[in-house]
Amino acid sequence: MKSNAFGLDIGNNAIKVAWLNHDKNTISYASSLSVPTPVQGMQSESPFDHQELAQIINKLVIDAKITTNNVNIALAENHAFTKVVEMPMLSEKELSSAIYWEAEQYIPMPLDTVTLAWSKLETPNSSLSEERMQVLLVAAPKTLIKRYQTILDLAGLTIVSVETEILAVIRSLIPPNNTPTSLIANIGAMSTTLGIVQNGIIVFNYSVPLGGIALTRAIASDFGLPIEQAEEYKRVYGLSDKNFGGKVGRAIEPILTTLLTEVKKALTFYTDKYKSESPISQILLTGGGASLPGLAVYFAQNLGLEGVLANPWSMLNIQGVPQAVEQKGPEFAVAIGLALKEYE
Ligand SMILES: Nc1ncnc2c1ncn2[C@@H]1O[C@H](COP(=O)(O)OP(=O)(O)OP(=O)(O)O)[C@@H](O)[C@H]1O
Ligand SMILES: [Mg+2]
Repeated sequence: MKSNAFGLDIGNNAIKVAWLNHDKNTISYASSLSVPTPVQGMQSESPFDHQELAQIINKLVIDAKITTNNVNIALAENHAFTKVVEMPMLSEKELSSAIYWEAEQYIPMPLDTVTLAWSKLETPNSSLSEERMQVLLVAAPKTLIKRYQTILDLAGLTIVSVETEILAVIRSLIPPNNTPTSLIANIGAMSTTLGIVQNGIIVFNYSVPLGGIALTRAIASDFGLPIEQAEEYKRVYGLSDKNFGGKVGRAIEPILTTLLTEVKKALTFYTDKYKSESPISQILLTGGGASLPGLAVYFAQNLGLEGVLANPWSMLNIQGVPQAVEQKGPEFAVAIGLALKEYE
């Protein structure tokens, strides 16, 4: 039986839900909605805050007219841990014990405090010899998963799957057919997650602790403005040079340069490892921060790649999306990717 759980993304700026109809051969829009995240967000350990968050989520689900209790969630990359590791060819049984040795090397937390999951990546990859395979390793602190469970229990929901954000974003932007090798940047409020996808499969990921809030703060401090107004300036003018003699652009450029440096490092890593076998041809910008005016052009010019403001609704050609919802697509990339998950 195919379940159509909805996707829930508890971001630092907003909580988003997305729900899709999985018909035989098509996927169509059911609903989506977002509300601001309360200040404590997912960080708080207080039962009072958990109760408040649960009530907000419960109301969001009702307002979005979602009628299933089944939910798919994603953990932020800076709280969980995703890594593609290269290993010798092993059977499933051998892998299930060998993976702990790998995890010990890569995971910066004691293994008894995390939940580990892994899967072999089926990638025809000529840079790997016959005797090697790639394995996707995911680890999440048990306390964080427990907190999600507590909050979503209180909200009357059942978690059916947990993954990391980058995996959901890849599902929402990369159709299953052949897509050119792409670098994805999911630009949120507090952080930006980078991922490189080759033949539909993740080969690299990294999280940078910079996002839209840092840009707003830079504008607020340069112009001496309250945060709300700085946010408005950011959204209206961004990197477009026509207004304030490019002053908004100049205020945010140092942060964008830092982000650009991280993207360049990711590109270098990829080029060194995979040589020219399947060069990266585009950078897909998503997340709320990707809508900054002029950002796609800025990245394209500085990287010599095509820069695309990536909207999951149109990238995947999902039918029946209302126009007002369509334009908010980038913010919903994680939630949509979660709603796309299918179970046999
Ligand atoms: N048109 C726009 N121009 C510039 N920035 C925008 C625009 N629309 C939204 N943003 C920014 O996007 C950010 C919110 O994006 P998103 O909803 O993806 O974040 P989040 O998932 O809540 O945060 P995080 O992923 O860091 O937990 C905010 O910082 C907001 O200022
Ligand atoms: Mg986010």
